[in-house]
Amino acid sequence: MAEARIIDGKAFADRLRARVAERAAKVKQQHGITPGLAAVLVGDDPASAVYVRNKEKAVAEAGMASFPHRLPATTSEAELLALVAKLNADPAIHGILVQLPLPKQINAERIVDAVDPAKDVDGFHPVNVGRLASGREGLVPCTPLGCMMLLEDTLGTLEGKDAVVVGRSNIVGKPMAALLLAANCTVTIAHSRTTDLPAVCRRADILVAAVGRAEMVRGDWIQPGATVIDVGINRVPGAEPGKTKLVGDVAFAEAKAVAGAITPVPGGVGPMTIACLLANTVTAACRQNGVAVP
Ligand SMILES: NC(=O)c1ccc[n+]([C@@H]2O[C@H](COP(=O)([O-])OP(=O)(O)OC[C@H]3O[C@@H](n4cnc5c(N)ncnc54)[C@H](OP(=O)(O)O)[C@@H]3O)[C@@H](O)[C@H]2O)c1
Repeated sequence: MAEARIIDGKAFADRLRARVAERAAKVKQQHGITPGLAAVLVGDDPASAVYVRNKEKAVAEAGMASFPHRLPATTSEAELLALVAKLNADPAIHGILVQLPLPKQINAERIVDAVDPAKDVDGFHPVNVGRLASGREGLVPCTPLGCMMLLEDTLGTLEGKDAVVVGRSNIVGKPMAALLLAANCTVTIAHSRTTDLPAVCRRADILVAAVGRAEMVRGDWIQPGATVIDVGINRVPGAEPGKTKLVGDVAFAEAKAVAGAITPVPGGVGPMTIACLLANTVTAACRQNGVAVP
């Protein structure tokens, strides 16, 4: 059988970022609005610092306004809530992103709940979660939104497909399942208590792995010709001593011999997340100002 088509998320994300930059320029030119994103980082977790820096760089490259906020690890919940309230009230800021995880003295749910749903470009606020679940317009979490774009680009219509999502987190698995359902797939959500996970996965025309376990999904879990979206980002020891590398939740070499199409790690879903954050920020800016998204 032919090897799977490799879904080039990096190339798709580059095109999306260029389109978003064009949209941002039009909004600026036609309405005098510069879409603005405030990224809040509390503490000095190195991985979070890299994520936030990359997001801010992408915002600037798209010609949008970036409002960085760095707070010490000792920040209290009240202090962070006060900052969120200030950002909610600032008309130059259309998107607010509070990088998770937060230090343990801060209740993350209270912070997520405090962000104005109209500015919640991560799509984590319960109002946006409810809108997604009930098929209403809202802001959709970036990673699953990016996965849907890759799937639609690969398959065209998703209607009637059997989709299996492995993982039920609030940020990936659950919103992914809601989006697939909205696209008229027949959706199964699998998790750590699922019985006979390989057999459940083998039913899938579309298999989305969002688990956080390196190469857990094996080649013989995949239906021949299935489309596989690997959300996992796992750092594992590399070939050379002392070196590491990134792998997904799917055993890529085995899977690509069976699947019809598959996202690589890195270069698949990862770059889509930031591109979708930019897209959400432009969308939020337009909606807050009552203008059409160009
Ligand atoms: N590409 C990106 O931009 C991006 C964005 C976000 C996350 N990620 C990556 O995606 C992965 C998942 O992230 P997450 O935040 O959704 O993780 P998470 O919150 O830890 O959730 C993991 C999910 O996987 C399930 N699971 C764990 N072990 C399992 C097993 N042995 N069999 C079946 N299911 C199992 C868990 O089930 P239970 O609910 O039963 O515990 C849980 O629902 C991670 O590698 C993360 O780094 C990538």
